[in-house]
Order: sequence, then structure tokens, then C-alpha cells
Amino acid sequence: MQANRLNKMGRILVRTATAASAAALLLAVGCRQDMHNQPKLIPQRGSEMFADHRGARPQVLNTVARGQLREDSYFYTGVVQGANGYREEQNLMPFPVTMEVLKRGQERYNIYCTPCHSRVGNGLGEIVQRGYKPAANFHDQVHLAQPLSHYFYVMTHGYGAMPDYAAQLTPEDRWAVAAYIRALQLSQSATLQDVPTGVQVKSLEEAAVEHDLPKSYAQPWTLPTTAVWGPALSTKEGTPAMAPAISGQLKVTIPASKPAPAAAK
Ligand code: HEC
Repeated sequence: MQANRLNKMGRILVRTATAASAAALLLAVGCRQDMHNQPKLIPQRGSEMFADHRGARPQVLNTVARGQLREDSYFYTGVVQGANGYREEQNLMPFPVTMEVLKRGQERYNIYCTPCHSRVGNGLGEIVQRGYKPAANFHDQVHLAQPLSHYFYVMTHGYGAMPDYAAQLTPEDRWAVAAYIRALQLSQSATLQDVPTGVQVKSLEEAAVEHDLPKSYAQPWTLPTTAVWGPALSTKEGTPAMAPAISGQLKVTIPASKPAPAAAK
């Protein structure tokens, strides 16, 4: 008798559970449909809600996304609004140049610019020596005279055959590279007058030894002065197509680094 009653209760339980799960299933299916048909914007798809039927909405005019205020426009663009409406470049760093900034600039320059401009900035990097359009020589009169922000601008937008480096270098890094290029330029054209009073000038040999470099480092370096013509520059007949025009431009010589006077007081 006892067992029979238990059996009956069991059956009732099973039936209730089955009914409950069937109801749950029905409910779930119903919900699922509702979720599928909910009114929402799907990326890259049209929408009936807006007059122009575009799901993706343009930024509302005169609004700024969080974190993109960019109040310091010179820092981000390298130009200022000139008097007559032209955008002008400036010979100005937007933040103080410290040794840390220069080291960062040197590191980024060596990674991104040396392939074409070379480590010394004479525009005869490895890629140019293999036939790429000669890159700017930062030590010629034209480039020495360019304002600092011109370098920032060129890195941001590219220049002629040179691609831009806006994706690889943050604005801060672009300024650091520009500052480092100025240091490179000074390294070839500084005079004792440029040295602040009270600063000791070491000879190149002393500096080399200090940095664990061979003494020959202090001797003038031999740098390539003409590009090696790769097959890319040959015409079908095999004659260098652009050699005369380009080799004319390639007569760049970097003044040999002379050992600085031992010490200036
Ligand atoms: C792929 C090769 C290449 C790389 C890498 C490259 N450049 Fe250039 N750059 C060139 C070429 C080529 C020119 C000359 C463009 C022309 O005259 O068409 C040039 C010109 C320039 C100029 C001169 C613009 C002027 O007004 O005459 C500057 C400044 C410059 N590059 C800076 C840089 C900096 C800084 C970097 C590294 C972030 C860099 N370049 C990396 C190829 C390169």
C-alpha cells in the first residue's frame, strides 16, 4: 500500500514536470522571436526610422566625442591659423624638449625614418640606395631652413613620394622625432658659439670611449654619395632611366665630423 502511494505521487510529479517544461519551452520560443524582431539598429544596414534611411548616424554637428577635445590644435596639427586665413607652420615645440623626449625621438626616427633618410639624415637610406626616390637630406639649406612644425606636418600627411606616418607615430612621437631631427642637424653644423657657457665640450674620441665605441668612431665617416641603381630604375633596354636626373640631386656631402676642441670653458 505504502509503495503504491509513492508510485502514484511519482507519476504525478513526472507529469507536472513534463507540463512545466513544455510550458517553459513554449515561453522560451516566444521570447526568442520577440528578441529577434526587436527594433534596433544593425551596423551597416538601412533603417526605416530616419529620413535618410541610414542606420549609421553621422556625428552631430559641433559635438566632440569624449576624450577627443583636442584643444591644443598646434600640438595635433602642427599649424596655426595665420593672419590672412592661411595655415602657417611654426618653428616651435608645443612642449619642452627634455633628454627623454630626444631619446624617444631618436628611437622612433631610427625605426621609421632611417630606411629612407638614413641614420644621419642625409636621405640615402638603404631603400633609396636600392632605387627608391631620394629622400630629403635634412642637412641641405632648404631643409635646415624649414620650421620645426614642417617636419611634424610631413610625418602627419606625407610628402610627394613619402608616405605619412600618422598611424605609426602618435602626435607626441612625431614632435619627438622632429626635435631629434633638429639635434641631428645641429650635430653636423653646430659651432662652439652654440654651446651654452659653462658646458664642457668633449672631443669625439673621448665621447666614443665613454660609450664603449671604437676610437675610429670619432674619425670622419665615409657615407654613400650616390645611389646604387637597382633593376627598378632600368628601362626595358636595361639602361638606367632616371640616373642622370637623380644623380644630380644626389651630390650630397655631409660635412665630415671634426673632433671638437678638447674643452671650452
Ligand atoms: C619609404 C621611404 C621614406 C621613409 C621611411 C621616410 N621618408 Fe621622408 N621622404 C621620403 C622621400 C622620397 C622624400 C622626398 C619626397 C618627394 O620629394 O617626393 C621625403 C621627404 C621628407 C621630408 C622633406 C619634405 C620637404 O619639404 O622637402 C621630410 C621633412 C621627411 N621626409 C621626414 C621624414 C620623417 C621624419 C620620417 C620618419 C617618420 C620619414 N621622412 C620617413 C621618403 C621617406
